[in-house]
Amino acid sequence: MDWGMKNRMSRLLKPETGKGVWLAIDHGYFLGPISKLEEPGKAIRPLVGFTDALMLTRGVLRNCIGANLDIPIILRVSGGNSIVGPALSDEGIQTSMEEAIRLNASAVALSIYIGTEHEHKTLMALGELVNQGQRYGIPVLAVTAVGKELAKRDARYLGLCCRIASELGAQAVKTYYCEDFEKVAKACPVPLVIAGGPKLKTELDVLKLAYNAIKEGAKGVDMGRNIWQSDNAVGMIKAIRKIVHENASVKEAGKLLK
Ligand code: 5RP
Repeated sequence: MDWGMKNRMSRLLKPETGKGVWLAIDHGYFLGPISKLEEPGKAIRPLVGFTDALMLTRGVLRNCIGANLDIPIILRVSGGNSIVGPALSDEGIQTSMEEAIRLNASAVALSIYIGTEHEHKTLMALGELVNQGQRYGIPVLAVTAVGKELAKRDARYLGLCCRIASELGAQAVKTYYCEDFEKVAKACPVPLVIAGGPKLKTELDVLKLAYNAIKEGAKGVDMGRNIWQSDNAVGMIKAIRKIVHENASVKEAGKLLK
């Protein structure tokens, strides 16, 4: 890895722990104004102090986030689909690498839809983004998206997706936690972070998810709804930090929810 690429990665995964707590607020790019993210700037204000990186689109970055923000940006550069459209997997690159550089992004992110009719298109987009990222020293985060098919999230499928993403050159991969997650992590030679997915029943369920993922090989979380849709969003992110950066147990971390 060249110096610029290494430097950007070290801002995303803290050198002290090799891990990261990233906050994802990019959901609006296909879901529109979902609950508690109607005003993204307001939603993240109390959380940025506890966040190692912010994942979002250029529209929200330019319009809702102050340019004095002092945490790395993971810029969502894929899109072109919507929750009411014909196929969520029909996604392409809609923000250029030039824009990412102009916006001082520390990484760019795109979704890949393996096993769908648009598999080839999204994997070719990943390859092209990696080529451009290599040229400018910008890491690429590949997101193993499942669209509405949440039941797809098992180790066999996610293991396949994560491995393919890393083989095609992604510097980091974002996936879901699943049973046998250690098999997914072991077979993916680049840092793996987990999404939270739709809001879980309890706060402790979220902490358990984060704890198990870290124990089984994840390098961090890139979570959204289970943090900012919580009535205790600050408590949640603090507790997740404790697990990711301090290897705290669920019980120890849970004390920060009070
Ligand atoms: C959408 C994304 C989201 O950033 C991701 O799903 C993380 O958010 P959540 O924890 O709410 O699932 O990449 O494709």
